Amino acid sequence: MSVKTRVYEGKAKILYTTDDPEILLADFKDDATAFNAQKRGSIENKGNINCSISSKLFQQLETHGIKTHYVDSPAPHQMRVKALKILPLEVVVRNIAAGSLCQQTGLALGTVLKKPLVEFYYKNDQLGDPLLTRDRLFLLELATPEQVDTIAHLALQINKFLCDFFGRCDITLVDFKLEFGLDAQQQLLLADEISPDTCRLWDNSKLRDPNLRVLDKDRFRRDLGNVENAYQEVLQRVLKAIESSN
Ligand code: TMP
Ligand code: ASP
Repeated sequence: MSVKTRVYEGKAKILYTTDDPEILLADFKDDATAFNAQKRGSIENKGNINCSISSKLFQQLETHGIKTHYVDSPAPHQMRVKALKILPLEVVVRNIAAGSLCQQTGLALGTVLKKPLVEFYYKNDQLGDPLLTRDRLFLLELATPEQVDTIAHLALQINKFLCDFFGRCDITLVDFKLEFGLDAQQQLLLADEISPDTCRLWDNSKLRDPNLRVLDKDRFRRDLGNVENAYQEVLQRVLKAIESSN
């Protein structure tokens, strides 16, 4: 086996080459950051938990016809993925107002949106991942109009699937972030991860308590404590929902 080379290090994952040039190894880290890395820390077992949750969700999405970069998971914190050209876009889908939507629009936290909102952000840490307009996205040539339409369609399909899936976990999917990449055939695949780092997830049995309901990275962002427990709770419910559907 050849020595693996680090090809990319992000805030939550390191990507390595493998013997197969079409496949990379993603190593999920316990490091946690927020507010464009102004807040830094670590969440025990996060790498294992997020890799396990993402692997399960990617497998579920594949069985529902959504193409993802997932290949397999050789260790709890490692995922083999297809090597893609990642588009520099953060695609956010929102069902309920929270986070930056409330800060930037004045909508009250918890407002149920009449229909899901799909937003595109420029994946650029130096600029602080700004919200894009459609025209700015094309000005910067971050994707073609066809790609944007396909991504928006896929994002809504994924939202539908995930809302239903998390519903079976007794969890409300408030919002989440997706990333997409192109394979050698220019096919768009879902990439990155889907985990409590990249979703807002509220416990349905505690919806009335704005702190107790939080099962995601907002526990870290807002110093709510019990972060690892919340992530572990999401993993256990995901595993149970899959087991009971088999
Ligand atoms: P926001 O309300 O801060 O814009 O976040 C919307 C969703 O996107 C939320 O589920 C958290 C997720 N997210 C990321 O995964 N990475 C990021 O860098 C940011 C800012 C948000
Ligand atoms: N992941 C992002 C960061 O560190 C932001 C966030 O999730 O709040 O900077």
